[in-house]
Amino acid sequence: MTSDLFPETKLSLDALRATQLERLREAVRHAYDNQAPYRVKCEAVGVHPDHLRTLDDLRRFPFTAKSDLRDAYPYGMLAIPREHCVRVHASSGTTGRPTVVGYSARDIATWGELMARSLHAGGARPGDIIHNAYGYGLFTGGLGAHYGAERLGCTVVPMSGGFGERQVQLIREFGARVVLMTPSYMLAIAEEFERQGIDPRETAMRIGIFGAEPWTEAMRAEIERRLGIDAVDIYGLSEVMGPGVACEFVETKDGPTIWEDHFYPEIVDPETGAPVADGEPGELVFTTLTKEAMPVIRYRTRDLTRLLPGSMTTMRRMAKITGRSDDMLIVRGVNLFPSQVEEQILRDPALSGHYVIELSRTGALDDLLVRAEARTPLGGHAEARSARELIQRLKGMCGLTATVDVLPPGSIERSLGKARRVIDRRAKD
Ligand code: DLL
Repeated sequence: MTSDLFPETKLSLDALRATQLERLREAVRHAYDNQAPYRVKCEAVGVHPDHLRTLDDLRRFPFTAKSDLRDAYPYGMLAIPREHCVRVHASSGTTGRPTVVGYSARDIATWGELMARSLHAGGARPGDIIHNAYGYGLFTGGLGAHYGAERLGCTVVPMSGGFGERQVQLIREFGARVVLMTPSYMLAIAEEFERQGIDPRETAMRIGIFGAEPWTEAMRAEIERRLGIDAVDIYGLSEVMGPGVACEFVETKDGPTIWEDHFYPEIVDPETGAPVADGEPGELVFTTLTKEAMPVIRYRTRDLTRLLPGSMTTMRRMAKITGRSDDMLIVRGVNLFPSQVEEQILRDPALSGHYVIELSRTGALDDLLVRAEARTPLGGHAEARSARELIQRLKGMCGLTATVDVLPPGSIERSLGKARRVIDRRAKD
């Protein structure tokens, strides 16, 4: 249940909406007054913070996009003097410049509080030992989770990613009840347990709080089965704060609850930007309600999901992310998300959940190759059968005929953080 430790999660719906409106008006005014690039956008469409009288009025305001942060690189989006920022983080940025985000001392305190709230929802309790294998550094995962775990009153093992053998050793010997890392890395660690002949059920580990990349319900079932733990989904992004924008409750595992007293969510049509009703799929958009150093108003996350009614609190939930709009593959005219392929792979108990999708082009035609790893060495016959069946399931799911390679265990590169699921070799026209 919601805890006395976090009384804000008990707000009535009326009180929540009133808090949101009050904070939203301050946040929009703060951005308008102190974040030049956003004020310019508002002036261009003739909106002013005074126009914000109801929560719905937010729809009149312009979006903020990742490109706005890039254009303002590195410090142009700060709404307080740089000297008042106590920390910066940055996204790795696969192409071009990274996006830089800044935090005031109060922002860091709020983040710690919300991350503590997230970990508590996920099942962590004061006094627990928490093994934190999110990467430390510019990535928000490591330090974000770290401060939250300390704030909750846990003992943190600041492990960061890498050194699989050591991960297993320390989870076991230091007695972690809760582990934090990406779901794909947890799968690699599960194999390391198996390799060392250690039964994870004989360790103190009971809960994993996983995020930073899309993962399916099938992947949740796979992780829970292999490790004997509860696998909980945590969501966040650096532009909005970092991990801890939303987190599932371990009791329900029904999609991350968005901490709506600090982040106002909307869903919009990814093509047109038009608002979409709760329950309908679209792109998630966030407005920060309490950020000082770098507020974002209507930030386009590119993450595709739906808003669901609150279950454990009055705050709304988000459905599991199906993918990012920019991760959507268009193969021979068919829209395809890696998560759809993942689901089909994991329907075969002989396959492990490590996979890569490779796209190439022969002539005018796209080739879709799915490389999936077997859980244990399979004979040639069994490999061929798994491949054949996966081809059929993929065809049934999206109509595409793929080539499937079933590979021996260990053939696909393990990532320490976010897994790279797609290699697109098609020449860009
Ligand atoms: O990944 C923050 C984070 C760290 C979240 C640790 C959870 C745990 P970024 O590097 O800025 O921040 O990447 C943010 O990752 O827009 C999503 O596309 C994706 N993402 C994060 N959490 C989830 C999740 C961190 N639970 C981007 N499910 C986001 C699906 C997720 N995708």
